[in-house]
Amino acid sequence: MSTLSPPFRILFTHDQILRRSQELARAIFAATPGEPPLLMAVIEGARPFARLLQKHLPGQLPVHEVRASSYAGTRSTGAVTITQGGDLPVRGRHVLLLEDIVDTGRTIDALRRHFTAAGAKSCRVASLLSKPSRRVVPVAIDYLGFEIPDEFVIGFGMDLDGRYRELLDIVVYEADVERAFAAGTRHAASG
Ligand code: IMP
Repeated sequence: MSTLSPPFRILFTHDQILRRSQELARAIFAATPGEPPLLMAVIEGARPFARLLQKHLPGQLPVHEVRASSYAGTRSTGAVTITQGGDLPVRGRHVLLLEDIVDTGRTIDALRRHFTAAGAKSCRVASLLSKPSRRVVPVAIDYLGFEIPDEFVIGFGMDLDGRYRELLDIVVYEADVERAFAAGTRHAASG
């Protein structure tokens, strides 16, 4: 982690993420003989994960982007709106949704229903993380990186109101760690 960011607790190092994503790419490839899947990253959070999978899947598959919003701050608001990529032509294709984290399950459930209704031959899900204890809507995750407890995580694409996406590791967000770090930084600057 950068020394310019607060010392949040590391859940998964960048190295662990790289290795696990490579394993997932192998599993995806092994399960898709013939037709390559239509990769769809749920942005913005899943971009780094999608890039890794793209790199490790043969054939230089393009990654399409779909945007769905249901979050404000650290709380899910419930309703899911597809604001970008909902009109991608999926008829007759095997869709693979790439997600950073499945929390309540509402986003993936909404996307899967949408693309299935739009005529996708199948619609599978690869997610780097899952918080099963937070599930409201049951969803099947076909390829899962890691299960995590009910903690708000940031880094490797995941943000808190647009901040901390650039961290290489996945860390646990804690407001008091952030406050203490900010106070220390101010103190150092004035001393
Ligand atoms: P769901 O619809 O509740 O499953 O939420 C999925 C989306 O919420 C993810 O794509 C993330 O953008 C966001 N999200 C859920 N939990 C976290 C978290 O711990 N950190 C950052 N974003 C999260």
